[in-house]
Amino acid sequence: MNVNRRHLMTGTIGAAAVAMVASACASEDGGGDGSGGKKVGIAMPTKTSERWILDGNNLKESFEGEGYEVTLQYANDVAADQVSQIETMVGQNVDVLVIAAIDNKSLSGVLAQAKGQDITVIAYDRLILDTPDVDYYASFDNTKVGTLQGTYIVEALDLANQAGPFNLELFAGALTDNNTQYFFNGAWDVLEPYVTGGQLVVKSGQTTLEQIATENWDGAVAQERMDNILSNFYNDGSKVDAVLAPYDGISRGIVASLQGGGYTAMPVITGQDAEVESVKYIIDGLQSMTVYKDTRELASTTVDMVVAVLAGEKPDVNDTETYDNGVKVVPAHLLEPVSVDVNNYQEVVVDSGYIDAKDLA
Ligand code: BGC
Repeated sequence: MNVNRRHLMTGTIGAAAVAMVASACASEDGGGDGSGGKKVGIAMPTKTSERWILDGNNLKESFEGEGYEVTLQYANDVAADQVSQIETMVGQNVDVLVIAAIDNKSLSGVLAQAKGQDITVIAYDRLILDTPDVDYYASFDNTKVGTLQGTYIVEALDLANQAGPFNLELFAGALTDNNTQYFFNGAWDVLEPYVTGGQLVVKSGQTTLEQIATENWDGAVAQERMDNILSNFYNDGSKVDAVLAPYDGISRGIVASLQGGGYTAMPVITGQDAEVESVKYIIDGLQSMTVYKDTRELASTTVDMVVAVLAGEKPDVNDTETYDNGVKVVPAHLLEPVSVDVNNYQEVVVDSGYIDAKDLA
């Protein structure tokens, strides 16, 4: 079944073929190898970002390929709506919940109900905090995402060779997302020594997570904050040389602000998720890099975990130390993120089939 599932996720297979393979799997599994007739509830955060649409589709196809009945819900970045969607899934007696949380601290109540019904809970990409009722975590090496972003800035500005001083501004994601601190800390560990040494100057003075966070990871919120930074701290003719941005939607908001502020050449700007729009920005020189995380691989890892757990086996995890959710260390399977810029996007995101070349035209 694994072979079929991975084949399903190449992204190029037609819908009819997917349905055929899925139904073939369903009937094979109906015989009772453990997955036949099982139900999985998938709770995704939002459709405003491309990655979560891909995640949801990949998970749905993969679980259906294993014979699971799938409920897939998006909650438009409203945490309370996500809680009620999960409550409904619990009411439908799902066997498994796969959750990418909107607010990592909002789920303790509903997950206690889920555990009361012996439902397996997988935190998908974002760790769920303050609850004993999460079984496993499937994600990427989130610290490394930040390291890649910070390192890109250091190399692009040639800081190791004493270049500078340069002006840097910092953006982070939503405070309700556990990943936010990992991304920022990973980047800040690389950048901070250059700030302390004077080669990087944060003219706004905004360097704490609370100051630089972006509600709901919303590009428009980041654009407004960048507007304020430009008008308050760069009204003396000075220029921003680099922006640490944690996610492509935020990067594009920052580009819009800089364009509004009259920038014709963009500073170094980081990103994450290899969204089509941002890969186009990279090709056009508007954004410098993104961090590619293969959501097909994450879906496949998650399905493997679930299949193992429901078969009474131990899933394949590769980290049992990093992700303490406040109640316990959640065993995790972490995948590798990859830095992408104009020099390697073709090989990494196009040749791998993640993005169709014609979408970049
Ligand atoms: C994910 C990122 C994504 C961000 C905003 C994070 O939890 O790990 O890939 O860019 O959420 O959606």
